[in-house]
Amino acid sequence: MGIRGLSGPDESTVAGAPGLRDTRGRGLRDLRISVTDRCNFRCPYCMPAEVFGEGYRFLPRKDILRLEEILRIARLVARAGATKMRITGGEPLARANLAALIEGLAATPGVTDLALTTNAVLLPAHAPRLAEAGLQRVTTSLDSLRPEVFARMSGGRGTVDQVLAGIAAAQAAGLTPLKVNCVVQRGVNDDGVLELARHFRGTGHILRFIEFMDVGTMNRWDHSQVVPARELLDRIDAELPLEPTEPNYHGEVARRYRYRDGAGEIGMIASVSQPFCGDCSRARLSAEGELVTCLFAKEGRDLKTPMREGASDDTLYQMITGSWQERTDRYSEERSAGAGPQKAGDRIEMYKIGG
Ligand code: GTP
Ligand code: 5AD
Ligand code: SF4
Ligand code: SF4
Repeated sequence: MGIRGLSGPDESTVAGAPGLRDTRGRGLRDLRISVTDRCNFRCPYCMPAEVFGEGYRFLPRKDILRLEEILRIARLVARAGATKMRITGGEPLARANLAALIEGLAATPGVTDLALTTNAVLLPAHAPRLAEAGLQRVTTSLDSLRPEVFARMSGGRGTVDQVLAGIAAAQAAGLTPLKVNCVVQRGVNDDGVLELARHFRGTGHILRFIEFMDVGTMNRWDHSQVVPARELLDRIDAELPLEPTEPNYHGEVARRYRYRDGAGEIGMIASVSQPFCGDCSRARLSAEGELVTCLFAKEGRDLKTPMREGASDDTLYQMITGSWQERTDRYSEERSAGAGPQKAGDRIEMYKIGG
């Protein structure tokens, strides 16, 4: 497998509204909406407990977009061509009245895919109501089935049983196909990947392994902790034979592999070893109202201030499309082309833009 798309994508396959392209020819198809910067976990690779302790000051309420403000921007991004919306955090289920936002997004013209990424612990309490509001599917995180490894990777918050109960609740509510994301860190949880694969085989849930990334400034990322997707794939394939399968859609982040015996599929998100910037059609909206065009961006375009100062829909629309047209981002490709990771301090934190 080689690196995909070092040049711009082929125009006939570009996602998003015709005409709106960034400097590398990429369309705008997805909006990832972070609804809060808070989380009930303290995963060391995202929100390390020693930094985010009791005294940590999260965004004050007044600085967080209100639900109707989020919806207004989401509608404009949909007008610009986005068809897929994903709600993230922090932990999005920590945000009050999320169902109202989901109802609004589900009713937004152009939105055909509405999903949510969560650590799953609060799903039993929320899944039925969210499904009723129009949420289509959820993606949960689960880094290990072993209680002590799970605890290490969640900062001691939540339990494996709670996550499994959350997954069951989402399934019962029809929030499927359900995906389970596992961030793999060498020496921490990589010896548990087969166990996870065996657990989810045959359940209809799609397990996806994510290479540990140098997102944010606090996770002390080191290349030696990345287990390349190829290596993981070989390990799983040796026990549970796999074969590659076609992407669900152009620009899909995960590469898909199915079990040869028909027991379902897994995905590999190889953003370090096989970057996918060439097709990247994702914009992110932070909880404080910045439009961010790359997971590794230094900063975003502030939409909250103009919105609160009375900017019209047309003005905001121009800001959104202008920001996309100026977009040059291809961070993961640059990293793998040898530029190395950016200096810590030059990146937005992951918990602010939800991955
Ligand atoms: P589907 O809509 O189900 O295809 O999901 P998705 O893969 O788009 O979304 P998901 O939130 O499950 O993505 C999984 C993880 O992949 C994220 O949490 C990130 O860690 C990583 N990821 C997603 N998008 C990007 C991206 O644009 N760049 C990089 N480097 N990583 C990404
Ligand atoms: N590298 C890879 N994935 C990460 N996530 C959070 N931080 C990282 C990182 N440093 C994942 C979470 C979750 C999703 C939102 O992003 O595990 O699945
Ligand atoms: Fe919370 Fe997700 Fe970050 Fe873990 S990765 S601290 S669950 S936002
Ligand atoms: Fe997109 Fe940036 Fe990720 Fe590349 S590094 S795939 S441009 S979000």
